[in-house]
Amino acid sequence: MVTSLVTSKQGIYVDGTFGKGGHTRALAAALNKSATLVGIDQDASLLETFDQSGIAQSLHLVHANFENLDQALRAMGIQQVNGILFDLGLNSATLEDAARGFSFDRNGPLDMRFDQSKSLTAAKVLNEYDEKSLSKILFEYGEEKAARKMAAAITKRRKTTSLETTADLRTIVAELTPHKYLVKALSRVFQAIRIEVNHEFEALRSGLEKGLDLLVPGGRLAVISYHSLEDRIVKRYFQSQALQSAPPEIQPYQTTVPGRVKLVTRKPIVPSVEEIKENPRARSAKLRVVERIS
Ligand SMILES: C[S@@+](CC[C@H](N)C(=O)[O-])C[C@H]1O[C@@H](n2cnc3c(N)ncnc32)[C@H](O)[C@@H]1O
Repeated sequence: MVTSLVTSKQGIYVDGTFGKGGHTRALAAALNKSATLVGIDQDASLLETFDQSGIAQSLHLVHANFENLDQALRAMGIQQVNGILFDLGLNSATLEDAARGFSFDRNGPLDMRFDQSKSLTAAKVLNEYDEKSLSKILFEYGEEKAARKMAAAITKRRKTTSLETTADLRTIVAELTPHKYLVKALSRVFQAIRIEVNHEFEALRSGLEKGLDLLVPGGRLAVISYHSLEDRIVKRYFQSQALQSAPPEIQPYQTTVPGRVKLVTRKPIVPSVEEIKENPRARSAKLRVVERIS
């Protein structure tokens, strides 16, 4: 990732998904002391516990959603940057923390908020959304074929008792799914609810757009995604910015002209076998990078 992102060793680099700071540390190691680093995460608890020792550059940590990247940087007096990284999703510590409600393997409250200052929780989605909306979320954000049946079972169940825990949701999914497909169904359902709670796709679309706006010519935006729905959004947006409709006067000869970026990765970069062995959760990771040309 670092080699694909860094084009100027003394530039300003933004890690828009700071997490535990692993990528920021890798960037710091590749940059000169005079570079500036900005780490952004919507989960404030991760920023509070970070130990800055060993980082030679000035590092600013900001609690924000990358959908507001422009405001966050402007508030620091930064108008343009040399590189931006989004490593999407959630980090393993958050997934493993039962109290955050992201894991179907650990019983906990139906929370699933990345940003705990927000009010929409998984419990609210599951107990308050109408059946049609739930079905749409499960189908569109989880690609769950049994979305309608599951939405019906959720709304039926909550007429007697509301859903409060991850085990409550797991039980409903388990009742409707053959055992051998259970883990996959749970992954799809938990993913779908999480995407809704954190309006992840809207944030991603907005983050990509603002990210490109903020790059200097020659600057790069790198995105690591972990499932096909996210990757599709990134791929389509990058393609739309790499090729734009030709102006009317040249339309007879050519329908498209180069846009404001070039694709650094025509095909996404995927982890090597060794990387997957070291970190099995990276197996579905896809890295796409674009460079601003104008
Ligand atoms: C996969 S982890 C990043 C791990 C990080 N690269 C590291 O090395 O530790 C994703 C992080 O992005 C944060 N995140 C996800 N969506 C975000 C958004 N829209 N704005 C800001 N942070 C976001 C999550 O809270 C989580 O900490």
